Amino acid sequence: MSEVVKLQLIGLSVVGIGILILLFIRASFVRVIGFVAIVLGLFTLVALSVPQMASLPPVEEKFDIATVKTPTDMATIGQKIFFSKGQCALCHTIGPSESARCPDLKGIGAKLSREFLFESLTQPQAYIYLDYRHEGVAKEYPARMPYINKNPIGLSRNEILSVIAFLQQMSGEPISVTVTELDAPGQAPAAPAKAAQSGPVAVAQAH
Ligand code: HEC
Repeated sequence: MSEVVKLQLIGLSVVGIGILILLFIRASFVRVIGFVAIVLGLFTLVALSVPQMASLPPVEEKFDIATVKTPTDMATIGQKIFFSKGQCALCHTIGPSESARCPDLKGIGAKLSREFLFESLTQPQAYIYLDYRHEGVAKEYPARMPYINKNPIGLSRNEILSVIAFLQQMSGEPISVTVTELDAPGQAPAAPAKAAQSGPVAVAQAH
């Protein structure tokens, strides 16, 4: 029995007790308590009938290289990363927006070469893009483009290539990243995996 169902049963019994009191007991003070019980029970039932939303952290996207067959597959993964782990959508929009703290990325895959895109993500301070959409001299954006390959975002090379594939695809460009460029598993182990191998877990397994 789920938590919600249990609570609903409790709510129903409280309403039931209230109704019984109103039906069978004449003492007015007790009747007031019965009435209150009915009202509270009904409130509980209404509140519980509202769909419950658990706000869990986003699921980590697993990059399973075996499932990636075409550049379009990469773009699909890249799109997920763009809106989740990569946190790009926290700052960037695809299409104009009112609250532009950062450049609009619409058509960016057509505007920038893939090398420039890679550099924008991994060496964001190499070339600072200015905001021209206001009166007067162009100035730096109020936010900073983070290093996408370092913590806290820390995308792997494969993930960055996929994001580039997505940026090109959503700009209507042919995807110039190919599947063969992806690091095969084991070839370039990701940092967290390495840490796990040399950590206390590995020691425990050895004994
Ligand atoms: C904290 C906010 C923030 C996040 C998160 C962020 N960016 Fe940026 N990005 C910026 C800002 C500010 C600039 C402009 C200044 C600069 O180029 O350094 C920028 C610039 C860029 C540019 C260059 C734009 C141009 O026209 O030259 C690209 C491409 C880009 N971001 C892509 C991404 C992608 C892809 C992600 C997610 C993996 C991402 N950004 C995450 C803030 C952010």
